[in-house]
Amino acid sequence: MAEGRVSGKTALVTGGASGIGAAIATALSEEGANVVISDLDEAAGAARAASLKNAVYLRHNVTVESDWEACIAATRDRFGSLEVLVNNAGVMPATKTIEETSYDEWKRVMSVNMDGVFLGVKHGIGAMKEKGGSIINLSSIMGLIGEAIVGAYSASKGGVRLFTKSAAVECANLGYPIRINSIHPGYIDAGMFAAMADEFGADSLRQRFAARTPMKRLGKAEEIAKGVLFLASDEASFSTGSELVIDGGYTAR
Ligand SMILES: NC(=O)c1ccc[n+]([C@@H]2O[C@H](COP(=O)([O-])OP(=O)(O)OC[C@H]3O[C@@H](n4cnc5c(N)ncnc54)[C@H](O)[C@@H]3O)[C@@H](O)[C@H]2O)c1
Repeated sequence: MAEGRVSGKTALVTGGASGIGAAIATALSEEGANVVISDLDEAAGAARAASLKNAVYLRHNVTVESDWEACIAATRDRFGSLEVLVNNAGVMPATKTIEETSYDEWKRVMSVNMDGVFLGVKHGIGAMKEKGGSIINLSSIMGLIGEAIVGAYSASKGGVRLFTKSAAVECANLGYPIRINSIHPGYIDAGMFAAMADEFGADSLRQRFAARTPMKRLGKAEEIAKGVLFLASDEASFSTGSELVIDGGYTAR
């Protein structure tokens, strides 16, 4: 059988039960990796893992440090190693002005989108520093440009972008063979954007954001998964601290 692009590697994908994370888990499995899908959503996570080759589901709250320790230990027990970590789990709060946003809501968004990535990178480095690996953090175009009524989300994704660069340089300085990069999806017709568009009714939100995108369409989860696959594979052997924007040209203007 032909080798896949990530054959021989074990990948942990947080938030892998749905949306973009599920597409990432599928792409990594199809290209030969062992895959651990971690998520709070047990039913969807277990179903996705059951549909893939060499995949398991683990319940994992990315905001809880002891969950990270248990999840990485269970991954190594099951597959023997960890070479790829995709920090994909994230939340998008209801759109609100900054004045309308409660401090509790701000902290909830930061807790999942930023603290979760911090804990993942911290424990991922611990697990990979001897034998090497690739960590991929899901940021957003909202970590690159400012949009109104998504202040907490933008702040968290901007934080992910620079935390990724700092961690990448630190690992290189320490001589750890770990690459760390961020991915910046534009408007993707999956996961949290699709849920929001469905809630708004009809296709008005989809049409509005497709029209604002130079390529005049929304992206697909599989198109983000392709970027993750590249950064996870040895094809990206000289990429660290970089930001891969996959947005149909949205931020190019
Ligand atoms: N859909 C888009 O247009 C878009 C655009 C840019 C960036 N992103 C980013 O892509 C990533 C995936 O988003 P998505 O659109 O697939 O949304 P989604 O809501 O379908 O997926 C997020 C997943 O994370 C899980 N999750 C949430 N909190 C968790 C926690 N504390 N611990 C463990 N798992 C948790 C959810 O159960 C869910 O399965 C997110 O980081 C998001 O910010 C999405």
